Amino acid sequence: MAKPMLDKTVAITGASSGIGFETAKALAKMGAHVVMICRNAQRGETARETIVRETGNEHIDLHLADMSRQRDIFRVAGAIKKQYDKIDVLVNNAGAIFGRRELSEDGIEITFAVNHMGYFLLTRELLEVLKASTPARIVNVASQAHRGVDLDFDDLMGETNYDGWLAYQRSKLANILFTYELDRRLQGSGVTVNCLHPGVVSTNFGRQGPATVSLFFKVARPFLTSPRKGAATSIYLASSPEVEGVSGRYFIKQRPRESSPESYNKTAWERLWQVSEDLIRDQER
Ligand SMILES: NC(=O)c1ccc[n+]([C@@H]2O[C@H](COP(=O)([O-])OP(=O)(O)OC[C@H]3O[C@@H](n4cnc5c(N)ncnc54)[C@H](OP(=O)(O)O)[C@@H]3O)[C@@H](O)[C@H]2O)c1
Repeated sequence: MAKPMLDKTVAITGASSGIGFETAKALAKMGAHVVMICRNAQRGETARETIVRETGNEHIDLHLADMSRQRDIFRVAGAIKKQYDKIDVLVNNAGAIFGRRELSEDGIEITFAVNHMGYFLLTRELLEVLKASTPARIVNVASQAHRGVDLDFDDLMGETNYDGWLAYQRSKLANILFTYELDRRLQGSGVTVNCLHPGVVSTNFGRQGPATVSLFFKVARPFLTSPRKGAATSIYLASSPEVEGVSGRYFIKQRPRESSPESYNKTAWERLWQVSEDLIRDQER
């Protein structure tokens, strides 16, 4: 079998289950050196061993980081930069929904911390190595859940009338705003960035979420897309020659699609970027 990703190094967050696991496995099958970034050592190692066993690819490494914690992100990015000469593809995939409002150890609302700041800070910290590995790609797993909402810059931490689903929707809109602004900043760099909706997929997603969301996933599970199919667009954007040079787009089922009208607000792109920079802990800059 042809190995189109031989000699490519791919870093992927949330590779221990669901869409991230299937993405990591498929890219491993294509010959990539896969750098799995997971928060739980046991789940991560079980996933790593499964991928090695099922693909025969031994170049699968596990790094640990809780993406809600900035110190973990700085540490894992530092370790990656030290260990690998190049990163050809970064897949920002780790994400979750929460049933009640919590703050991360950095004092950031947890959905925003994991789903947006996790993508933002890891990308920021790996950008230099990605730029030195061109042509390189960044893939951000977003969601159709972004539709119908806007960011509330006056209440990004969800202090008033917290709603777990709304916090999730906004974090997924943030993934798209971040993709578009990053694309603007990366023009001419040889690094592309795209985002995607994977479908409504039967994974562990929603189990810890608001009651209505976990109930929906429980009842609808038999009718949902399988994790393998749900990973198809992530795999496509990470590996297909068809999207070489394509950047700043939102994909569904491996096709570029329009995202919501709110997501094309350039002022929001820039403002989110600035706010995200400001939320990075001072001592780490
Ligand atoms: N499932 C869907 O219908 C759907 C639809 C649209 C978009 N998405 C997006 O798809 C992405 C993957 O979700 P999934 O459906 O595959 O769900 P999943 O099975 O729950 O997988 C989520 C992955 O993210 C990891 N993760 C969660 N919180 C983390 C943290 N604080 N630090 C590090 N890793 C963390 C999980 O690690 P553990 O194994 O340790 O929990 C797991 O590996 C998410 O960004 C989600 O928003 C999913």
